[in-house]
Amino acid sequence: MSGGKKYNYPESLPLLKFFWHAEAIRKNPIPFHRQFFNRYGDTFSVRLGRKKWLMLSRDKEVVEHILRKNHKNYYKSKIQTNFLSKYLGHGLLTINGEYWLQQRRLIQPAFHKEKMAQLVSLMQETIEKELSNLPIEKEVDVFPIMNRLAFKVVATSLFNVSASEETLARLQYIIQEVQEFLVKEVRLPHKGWWFRLSGQVKKHLALSEESRTILQEIIEERRRSRETHNDLLDMLLATRYEDTGEPMTDKQLIDEITILFVAGHETTANALSFTSWLLARHPEVQQEVFSEIDKVNHENNTLINHIGKLQYTKSVIDESMRLYPPAWITDRENLVDDDLAGFHIRKDTLVGISFYELHRHPDYWDQPNEFIPERFLGEAKKKTTGHYYPFGAGPRMCIGMGFAIYELVLAISYLVNNYELSTSVRQVEMNPLITLKPVSAQLSFRRR
Ligand code: HEM
Repeated sequence: MSGGKKYNYPESLPLLKFFWHAEAIRKNPIPFHRQFFNRYGDTFSVRLGRKKWLMLSRDKEVVEHILRKNHKNYYKSKIQTNFLSKYLGHGLLTINGEYWLQQRRLIQPAFHKEKMAQLVSLMQETIEKELSNLPIEKEVDVFPIMNRLAFKVVATSLFNVSASEETLARLQYIIQEVQEFLVKEVRLPHKGWWFRLSGQVKKHLALSEESRTILQEIIEERRRSRETHNDLLDMLLATRYEDTGEPMTDKQLIDEITILFVAGHETTANALSFTSWLLARHPEVQQEVFSEIDKVNHENNTLINHIGKLQYTKSVIDESMRLYPPAWITDRENLVDDDLAGFHIRKDTLVGISFYELHRHPDYWDQPNEFIPERFLGEAKKKTTGHYYPFGAGPRMCIGMGFAIYELVLAISYLVNNYELSTSVRQVEMNPLITLKPVSAQLSFRRR
């Protein structure tokens, strides 16, 4: 324990050691986290200054406390709010407090189950279009394919037919560029002066502005049109604040749309890429998925019921997101001093939660590093409660969870129903940026 008289923090990692490894941690923090957890315990701290501590945890009690029990005392950190909002604006992901609650209440209905039901056929159309002509019988990196698909699915769900191919391609380019640069800024704070001096900050702010102009034009055109499109934009335009009866301003609308693009596409692309690679690595699981789809295809179901029946396919996706959680880490800062899992922590402590480590914790999972989809089937699934959080937990849980699950099941089932997947990559490398991305997940597709 450490922290002086008043505060009591978990075992501390010496600051010197932290700085000693800083460059390597920046490149890939995952092996270091594992090493530090094994050495210092499931929650450890680093004292960054006289009044500033950092804590990192893979303890389910800590996660439960921060995300659910005492969530009101824990705000998203400045890394998530200030840094991201500089380029992405102030949408659900990057705001806190009263304003967040107001926006969440306003937007939540657009993601209700019955609204999602309207979007699934649009999703399915996009998936078919994007996946019907994959390169055959040669190994290709699957991530760019899935990234394009996931972007298209969010884009068509937001704008249905209102944006041209070129406009979407430009938007995708900008969002990608800005996101990549943002990660650089977060990871390499000591190079901030260089990013400013070399004009890179200016260039990326100009790109953000360009995407806002594109979104503004789409919104204005939609207002002029008299047709209904049954997409998210229609819903976001129609929604009203309960107290004032007013709609969102255009600035708010653009902020929220930008955030939906960012939060909704790379996460899903990662999940689709890791899941495809796992299926290619496990032909027996792939066969089981194929048999399930084949059986359900012969039944006469609505699309929503069809998705609901693909339980084995869903368990494969769940297990894939256990091993490779696309949102692999999150953080919070406490507004006032708090008692947390036996520790007494000062306000403004930066607390990181590693979903990646929680999902592979040997106390919570049998054979934690093995791919076993059956963990998520039937009664066995109950045992995963409390230490499985691919979509987070509590009031700030992912608003797009239902959307993402429909998309994942539809895309994976389309893929397996039409192709046999194989790979020569025995262990795919991970690149833990803001999301956990696969590096060179090479797959080969053969038509069935
Ligand atoms: C496999 C896909 C996805 C994963 C793994 C995922 C994961 C997450 C996680 C873990 C959080 C909570 C972060 C935290 O507590 O700090 C989150 C929040 C969020 N997600 Fe997702 N997400 C996915 C897909 C989507 C999609 C498709 C959308 C929208 C179309 C979306 C929109 C959002 C938004 C707006 C938030 C912020 C919610 C709030 O703070 O109120 N996500 N997501």
